[in-house]
Amino acid sequence: MNVPTQAAGVPVGIDDISFATGSYRVDLADIAPRLGAEPAKYHKGLGQEQMSVVAPDEDPVTMAAAAAAPLIERGGAEGIRTLLFATETGIDQSKSAGVYVHALLGLPDTVRTVELKQACYSATAALQFAAALVARNPAERVLVIASDIARYDLDSAAEPTQGAGAVAFTVAANPRILRLDAANGVHTSDVMDFWRPNYRTQALVEGKLSIGAYIDAVAGAFADYRERGGAAFDEIDWFCYHQPFTKMASKAHLMLSERFGLDMDKARAEEIIAPTTGYNRRIGNSYTASTYFGLLSLLDTRPDLAGARVAIISYGSGCVAEFLTGRIVEGYEEMLHAEEHERILAERIRLGDADYYAMQTRVIEDQGNHSNIGEGLRRGTGPFSFTGVEGDKRRYVRRAD
Ligand code: CAA
Repeated sequence: MNVPTQAAGVPVGIDDISFATGSYRVDLADIAPRLGAEPAKYHKGLGQEQMSVVAPDEDPVTMAAAAAAPLIERGGAEGIRTLLFATETGIDQSKSAGVYVHALLGLPDTVRTVELKQACYSATAALQFAAALVARNPAERVLVIASDIARYDLDSAAEPTQGAGAVAFTVAANPRILRLDAANGVHTSDVMDFWRPNYRTQALVEGKLSIGAYIDAVAGAFADYRERGGAAFDEIDWFCYHQPFTKMASKAHLMLSERFGLDMDKARAEEIIAPTTGYNRRIGNSYTASTYFGLLSLLDTRPDLAGARVAIISYGSGCVAEFLTGRIVEGYEEMLHAEEHERILAERIRLGDADYYAMQTRVIEDQGNHSNIGEGLRRGTGPFSFTGVEGDKRRYVRRAD
């Protein structure tokens, strides 16, 4: 029998990419008075303008399906044999959220589906696992979805760094957007900077510790990347950092540049990072999806990127970091959907502080996730809806058009 063997030297990377977010948004200026802060603290100090908020009938599954649906509409399901669902806000201790998405998208049953978890990092692990699968068989494509809702305690210092969003991308041979370099660097160390025990819907965080842990872990990952033949820091054109708040990216860029002896100041670091921050400034933290919102923002807002070397810099508290690079592919502009992305963000419904606070309180008090059931509740406007829990089973539907 002729069994196919591993293919060598096939370029692999991101072939198509799309996003979704919550149907509502809060302007941080509207919550600042309750938190006793000047809006400038959030706008300038954290680099955040708004945060997305999910409706009671939206969750990581509905956002993931909404993010991935355009990829299937544009590219079909042929060749997809794996769905990797990255999240740190999983909706079940056992069943992968990806299985619900698989059903909502009507994917064939010849797909392996699994959920990956390591705080905000796991989408980058998924990208690497996907690349390895495609390198082994270039006829296959892998659907990677990162989807999360960032929730902290109300009235805490972390509250303005919440958000919600999903990014979906396909990994394929001869990709049309980003071709991955072989070199990558990784780092793991045991730090209690951010975590979410099973009995909580809101994460716990040691804010200041988390900022230092992020920078140390990324520096460790970059050192490993260099040892494995990666490019020097000044040979990289663009840096897509994980952005729990966008100022974190320029802060990390400044500190890393200084550590590597490069001439850098705060203003220059902000200028370099700026094209990667547009979406995260408006969406807030989306945990696993955040780095990829950074990549999308760069692609959608900065022209003439073909041939540029881009770094994907992933950090997941706890903690794991990865530093990898790729090159933007000639003709990538054909794959962009910037107008559609702007429409999604612009159409989110603005909530005042009181309405947002009531909606969040309801979720926090309802650990059973029944909070979508009831008269007079706001609904999402996206294509998929979480219709409730019946007999401890979550139910989802595609909304009628
Ligand atoms: N005008 C302009 N700037 C102002 C200001 C004003 N009126 N008031 C304050 N600022 C500035 C401060 O100087 C500070 O800037 P620098 O960091 O450059 O000094 C910035 O605004 C923030 O102010 P504070 O340090 O006083 O902020 P805080 O104590 O209220 O909390 C936080 C900030 C620690 C980020 C908190 O929001 C938090 O804990 N967030 C969650 C944790 C987090 O996002 N960590 C990031 C790394 S971990 C990670 O990446 C994983 C993940 O996704 C969670």
